[in-house]
Amino acid sequence: MEREMESTTTPQAAARGGAVQARPARKAGAASAAGPRWLPWAKVAVFVAALYPLARLVLFGFTDGLGANPIEFITRSTGLWTLVFLCITLAVTPLRRLTGWNTLVRFRRMLGLFAFFYATLHFTTYIWFDKWFDVAAMFKDVGKRPFITVGFAAFVLLIPLAATSTRAMARRLGRRWQTLHRLVYAIGVLAILHFWWMKAGKHDLVLPKLYGAIMLVLLGWRVGAWLLARWRASRSGAGAA
Ligand code: HEM
Repeated sequence: MEREMESTTTPQAAARGGAVQARPARKAGAASAAGPRWLPWAKVAVFVAALYPLARLVLFGFTDGLGANPIEFITRSTGLWTLVFLCITLAVTPLRRLTGWNTLVRFRRMLGLFAFFYATLHFTTYIWFDKWFDVAAMFKDVGKRPFITVGFAAFVLLIPLAATSTRAMARRLGRRWQTLHRLVYAIGVLAILHFWWMKAGKHDLVLPKLYGAIMLVLLGWRVGAWLLARWRASRSGAGAA
């Protein structure tokens, strides 16, 4: 997802479709282009941690812990975790820039794919248990209930991002890959709208306001960084002239 590259490739190089150039190997023990030595272990730890929401649902399922309406519980839980993973994925770039800790980018693709994984579970719960795979009824619902329309749009937009998340696809698509992965910003906005709209009907906007504020910071930071870069470029251009 969102400008995700790994290993010896820089996102910019791969998005340009350029040659993948590995840096010369450093001394043993030092961080190499493949990343620090602890990276594979950290990735396993993040992977296992990201399975927690699923494990929790399975455990609750086996211990009668899903409440009086298990379908609603699963739909809401998977929806909320989709949003959480979207926010974490979008937080990688700002955190990386603010801390200078570039290794963070090595986790981004996995986090983005977990957002897609939970969105798929969320959608599957809906189409399976709510609509019993009646696609016509689903599209009727998508057309009728605005919060479903917006959630559906967010899910549909996630599909090409997940499908092109590999390094091979990034190389194949070149610059278009980066443009395509900017869709994640629209997905973030649609996800908040979906949540807001759903909760507005229940007059309970505490969580949508919280996640809306987080999303505003994550997307606002990018707009700020972009404006700053443009201002700096125009200043250096004026200086050179
Ligand atoms: C990126 C995609 C999506 C995100 C981030 C998302 C997120 C959410 C969130 C945060 C909730 C509320 C959870 C809570 O109450 O705490 C929710 C509920 C729900 N979503 Fe989604 N959603 C997405 C896509 C979809 C899609 C594709 C559908 C169906 C077509 C859908 C249908 C629903 C339904 C039926 C509910 C529960 C409504 C209720 O319990 O009254 N969502 N979603």
